[in-house]
Amino acid sequence: MRQVTKFVIPEIIFGIGSLNQVGDSLVRLGARRVFLATDPGVAAAGWVEKALPYLDEAGLEWVLWQNVSENPKDHEVQDGAAAYLDEGCDAILCVGGGSPMDAAKGVGLVATNGGHVLDYAGIDKITRPLPPMVMVPSTAGTGADVSQFAVITDTKAHAKQMLASKSLVPDISVTDPLLLTTKSRELTAYSGMDALTHAIEAYVSVAANPLTDVHALSAIELISQNLRPSVASRENMTAKVNMAMASLKAGICLSNAALGATHAITHQLGGLLDLPHGQANAAVLPQVMEFNLISDPARFAAIARAMGEGGESLSVRDSAVLAVRAVRNLASDIGIPAVVTGLEAVRQETLDHMVANSLRDLCLITNPRDMAAGDLEQLFRSVLAVALTGDEDPT
Ligand SMILES: [Fe+2]
Repeated sequence: MRQVTKFVIPEIIFGIGSLNQVGDSLVRLGARRVFLATDPGVAAAGWVEKALPYLDEAGLEWVLWQNVSENPKDHEVQDGAAAYLDEGCDAILCVGGGSPMDAAKGVGLVATNGGHVLDYAGIDKITRPLPPMVMVPSTAGTGADVSQFAVITDTKAHAKQMLASKSLVPDISVTDPLLLTTKSRELTAYSGMDALTHAIEAYVSVAANPLTDVHALSAIELISQNLRPSVASRENMTAKVNMAMASLKAGICLSNAALGATHAITHQLGGLLDLPHGQANAAVLPQVMEFNLISDPARFAAIARAMGEGGESLSVRDSAVLAVRAVRNLASDIGIPAVVTGLEAVRQETLDHMVANSLRDLCLITNPRDMAAGDLEQLFRSVLAVALTGDEDPT
């Protein structure tokens, strides 16, 4: 039983066309020269071009930075912080997905606290305030625009490191569902499953509380009703608005109730194998749910009901099992395979390395069922089933 509940969120601006709020938001935070972080895909889709006039109208100077890759790397953050300081920036705006947002947080952190971004890996290592930060998510999945976390790849250890601090919560989150209309079908599917993973892991987390539960169940329901139509059509604005809201709610939950074993595992798949985060989550989540089921069957039964499965006539246990089936069906319907694909083979020593890193991952702390090295290895093996059958071209 938790003795203390803490709940923190940024100011939230949500709605179609709300990108036009970025200039005023930054002015309110005292910005003069803005470090505008994005990624080449978002810039190519025209969203940076659309945001810039709002900065100009507000009398702000800006410096564009887009040297960040998927699964953002420690050296990219260090380079970004050097650019921030060289250019004399005093605030951060990020228009992009989870990778540029996490990188932008790292840039703000290193620019104000000094040293190396991974010096701050762990919980509450940050001691000086960060610059004002405004975040505009371009995907419905990340949650980084509201969360107190940043995940950065340690390129020497080939592992993702997690930074957790309330100093990493952005000041203002601006969610404009129009940004979702330029995403590919694949990315829409991946990020939607990431949002679902956030909501489900937060709902069964040992740190779940009444303030997060209400948003978690609502996010699960919205995703189960809107992810399929959102993947089916770029033009379906009802689905886009609902997915944007679901992602926001799931982000609030993950920030305040934290996550679980799915993320402890997929952080390794991202850090070592550079797999897309949402794709890896979609493969791992149902297996972890099956493992976690006995920790609190009633909570899994509630997840099933939020996904339209189960009913009064079923036992709690039978309903709980349906939650796993509902997640598998959703991933399958939107074209995400149940095992990680695209790898030739994974060596045993690579597997051992990933298991060891998972055991150290902060997300494992809030998983509702205790997990040992053997449990993790079994989960990695079943998720990487195809890859582990071969022994050529080992990764
Ligand atoms: Fe995630």
